Amino acid sequence: MPDLRLEGATKYYKVEKKKLLAVEDINLTIEQGEFVFLIGSSGAGKTTVLRMLGGDLKPDAGSAYLGETNMNHFFGPLQFRLRRSFGYVWQEPQLLRKRTIYENLFMALAARSIGRRVKWDKAVGKALALVGMQGVEHCFPADLSLGEVRLVELARALVNSPPILILDELTANLDDDNIWDIMYLLNELNNRGITIIMATHASQYVNIMRRRVVMLTDGHITSDVRNGRYGEKEPKPENIFADAWAKNQKNRRRRWERK
Ligand SMILES: Nc1ncnc2c1ncn2[C@@H]1O[C@H](COP(=O)(O)OP(=O)(O)OP(=O)(O)O)[C@@H](O)[C@H]1O
Ligand SMILES: [Mg+2]
Repeated sequence: MPDLRLEGATKYYKVEKKKLLAVEDINLTIEQGEFVFLIGSSGAGKTTVLRMLGGDLKPDAGSAYLGETNMNHFFGPLQFRLRRSFGYVWQEPQLLRKRTIYENLFMALAARSIGRRVKWDKAVGKALALVGMQGVEHCFPADLSLGEVRLVELARALVNSPPILILDELTANLDDDNIWDIMYLLNELNNRGITIIMATHASQYVNIMRRRVVMLTDGHITSDVRNGRYGEKEPKPENIFADAWAKNQKNRRRRWERK
């Protein structure tokens, strides 16, 4: 799958006839198979950046690319072509309330893929099983807890086996056990080559996962760290030495105890 790229991407929202600058001059390249956490305080611009990366929101200035394709040219009726490349979980719940879970997932498939119905039935069951929500096919969204709805939304994002997952605050209503399971699953999917871009406030999980962490502050990227921690501006050299020192001490102690 191709890389994702924002070049000088700027977005304004209109509020009472005024233009409000949401994010400005965002330059960000996400390579195929990367796992990226997007962090920053509320209103920093995470959702706006995710939507531009996912071809869901057109930048007012600058461009968003999927490989060599400028996604600015794919809005309107052409947008469905782009959507096949992405699985989305947006911050706001997206499931249709009057449709069953099965219908919700089935519609996501029908909108994006070509294939036979028997195959689709299997894909729906498989996606629900992946997130540990098998058996809810005939429930309505209102029958599920907020956390369960998020898991079903992840299943909906996965039903098409997209090469890129865009996840906005997926973990917001999940308990710790569920978050662990989800992080494990995302890790597995990423190991299979799926690109994952995830906006989150869940600092403890970001710290444990040690993936690329991009921080937004007031609509600008203020840090971009590989194997990063939540809020870390850049890896501190003294931390590297401290970690190596601690490891060395531990090994020494082990050797000493074995004697
Ligand atoms: N539809 C909209 N209309 C007007 N202003 C908006 C709209 N969406 C976002 N904004 C504004 O743009 C800025 C960036 O918003 P965005 O939703 O991208 O931030 P965020 O980092 O995702 O915040 P949160 O952590 O609360 O989800 C904020 O100042 C927000 O108030
Ligand atoms: Mg947001």
